[in-house]
Amino acid sequence: MARKNKRRIKITGTGFYVPDKVLTNADLEKMVDTSDEWITTRTGIKERRVVSEDQATSDLAVEASRIALQNAGLKVKDIDLIVVATSSPDTIFPSTACWVQKGLGAGYVPAFDLSAGCTGWLYGMIVAEGLILNGAHKRILLVGAEVLTKITNMKDRNTCVLFGDAGAATVLEESHDESGMLSSYWKADGSLGDLLFLPGGGSRIPTTPETIAQNLHYIHMKGNDVFKHAVKRMGEAASEALKSAGITKEDIAYLIPHQANIRIIEATGRRLKVPPEKVYSNIHKYGNVSVASIPISVHELYEEGKLKKGDIILMVAFGAGFTWAAAAYRW
Ligand code: ACO
Repeated sequence: MARKNKRRIKITGTGFYVPDKVLTNADLEKMVDTSDEWITTRTGIKERRVVSEDQATSDLAVEASRIALQNAGLKVKDIDLIVVATSSPDTIFPSTACWVQKGLGAGYVPAFDLSAGCTGWLYGMIVAEGLILNGAHKRILLVGAEVLTKITNMKDRNTCVLFGDAGAATVLEESHDESGMLSSYWKADGSLGDLLFLPGGGSRIPTTPETIAQNLHYIHMKGNDVFKHAVKRMGEAASEALKSAGITKEDIAYLIPHQANIRIIEATGRRLKVPPEKVYSNIHKYGNVSVASIPISVHELYEEGKLKKGDIILMVAFGAGFTWAAAAYRW
């Protein structure tokens, strides 16, 4: 359902963290039967970041959160809820959010994970909006973090060229001026879940030596199908969010699509008739970092001085589930 907001939440701090290690297309050429030319033309990706063996999702989340808190001018003790969107948790339980709470030294604030594939951060914005506007929480730390390289089969050229590791954090509070989330739209279609999923390690297919031998502990994806649904659904979500905010594509300063593939990003821009210079992309640097991709993009646009007060951005995502969502936001 699409929603227009009268009272609004706003982002008061952003931050992101990527591991130091860079994995280039040239590196991948040595690992699987692929080429820089194939990866660049089919995906737009030139390089991605990869964690060290001892780094987990919460480690990236904690680093990103410290930066976001600093940019918000807040201390850890000022946060009253931690939500982590992820598909690559440190552990099935406890939640990654609890590991982040420990890592930050955030005291006894409630903490939980949100699972909505690559759409998780936008789902988190909508959940946080409800919690803030109904008075339950004042300052929410919403993190999108993934270590996808540890759940990707690095011998499978169909998937290993796509994904990277990153964490991005945002501090959310009620807005008392014109800025903030203007509208939102979210949907899911569980009937298509097996087009993009991690089959093993859950209660359906618990881990055994056989499931490991069959690589069921890695991402499985029907790339072509994901592609088609992503373009259609991101177009739908973005249009609905614009409509319910009562604005048109001419009003937006930037379209920020989830960074899955440059062809998905460009096709979404074309579908919405947004000129290419207004369609933000950083996929060449990070690959597909799932839930972290939109908050990293917002942070970069702001830090580079490209977002001015009053600018409207349109954020849109699609991911495993399938899930899809969009939000119009006035800076
Ligand atoms: N290097 C070289 N060749 C490759 C590679 C590779 N890394 N990967 C696949 N190929 C080959 C295939 O084997 C196939 O060869 P064949 O014709 O001999 O069988 C050929 O390239 C074409 O394969 P397609 O799958 O048709 O290639 P396509 O143009 O669809 O691109 C891709 C594949 C990049 C995965 C694309 O489908 C895609 O991006 N889909 C979206 C998936 C996605 O973004 N998933 C992320 C998670 S969801 C999300 O974030 C929205």
